[in-house]
Amino acid sequence: MKIKKPLPQPSTDARQHSEKLTERICEEIKHHGGSISFRHYMEMALYEPALGYYVAGKRKLGKGGDFITAPEVSPLFSQCVANQCIQIIEKIQHADILEFGAGSGTMAADILLHLEAKECLPDHYYILDVSPELKALQKETLSQSCPHLLPHVTWLSALPEQPFTGVILANEVLDAMPVELFMMHQHQTYQQRVSFEEGKFKLINQSINETNPIHKAVDRLAFDRSIDSELKYQSEFNPNIDDWIQQLNDCLEQGLVLLIDYGYTRSEYYHPEREAGTLICHYQHLVHNDFFWFPGLQDITANVDFTHVAEAANKTANSTADVNEESIAGSANGLTVSGFTSQAAFLTGCGLEALFINKLTQHPEQQYPLAQQVRTLSLPSEMGERFKVIALTKAFDDDLIGFSAMDFRHKL
Ligand SMILES: C[S@@+](CC[C@H](N)C(=O)[O-])C[C@H]1O[C@@H](n2cnc3c(N)ncnc32)[C@H](O)[C@@H]1O
Repeated sequence: MKIKKPLPQPSTDARQHSEKLTERICEEIKHHGGSISFRHYMEMALYEPALGYYVAGKRKLGKGGDFITAPEVSPLFSQCVANQCIQIIEKIQHADILEFGAGSGTMAADILLHLEAKECLPDHYYILDVSPELKALQKETLSQSCPHLLPHVTWLSALPEQPFTGVILANEVLDAMPVELFMMHQHQTYQQRVSFEEGKFKLINQSINETNPIHKAVDRLAFDRSIDSELKYQSEFNPNIDDWIQQLNDCLEQGLVLLIDYGYTRSEYYHPEREAGTLICHYQHLVHNDFFWFPGLQDITANVDFTHVAEAANKTANSTADVNEESIAGSANGLTVSGFTSQAAFLTGCGLEALFINKLTQHPEQQYPLAQQVRTLSLPSEMGERFKVIALTKAFDDDLIGFSAMDFRHKL
């Protein structure tokens, strides 16, 4: 973790903005009798209207922001994703694309330009984002990069009511969803809640009994019971995954859901040695773990439990949530887990090398930056292994190109 201490002090305006959000959170804490769940705190810190990190005016993505995502590293990433889309668009009639959480709009622009070059443009490219501020930025990016393709783009405020056919994409969206925090100590599970005491936010541990939904959720995480019971084992889980995947299933008639994010399989995520969980904060390209530092001015994010995603997909098709070979096969009414791999292997399967060579041939003077981009996207020490890709399909049986180099479904 790249921590610089002390973190750079925000400007007076930024601090005043954070104070307003802090006051709102305090009102909420008071309203709930002295504490709120961490999920509630994170929801407000990131999405409170006009104040939260993702919905207020600060630049977040790219060099001048707080963090860089793969589409911001290189158009080669989005071109690979577009190649995966082409496989679906060529096979399914009237296939469209729907992107969740499109950030700055860079991936949408690069995908559309690549599909146009390949003469494979869908009629519609839908974008669904919770952030009004980012929607405005997406419009600006697309107007600058590909104004002639704007008629293909529609911004949605909810999932389409009509059945959707095609590809649903989400890059780094699951990690931006609010999580519940918990702690296990001496065979007891505690929900970690947020209170405000002596002018500071504070985490408090609240005992929960076995009927509490959080206890049930934690119990399902199948911990290695060899965890030392004296250890204060702290972690988190995303309670939104099941509903979100169910909604995607209800909306998708035929096609592919492609989710890309940093994360682990469950046994890696809840490993005995990962005793402090995975929750981190980003501020001006520094990573730290003080999630109470100036709410609204920094990103707060947790890794994704991909086994949970696979279970949620299997639930749409089966009554059992276990991940096993039979459930991976899925059913006609639900989602099938059709691939799980590292970002590096996915990009290889989608033709990264050919895209790189093609670009190099056109622009030999860009050899160094292009090679650097490929390294960042695919080296194990950069984004190559930490980021994973999971594919959920419905009524689509062909092997997906993105998982042709390597498929780790058996590890889920
Ligand atoms: C970490 S950014 C990733 C942006 C972009 N996908 C990229 O890779 O550059 C998270 C994005 O997801 C959006 N977001 C978060 N939760 C969402 C949800 N439930 N539905 C739609 N968008 C969401 C945020 O507004 C933001 O645009």
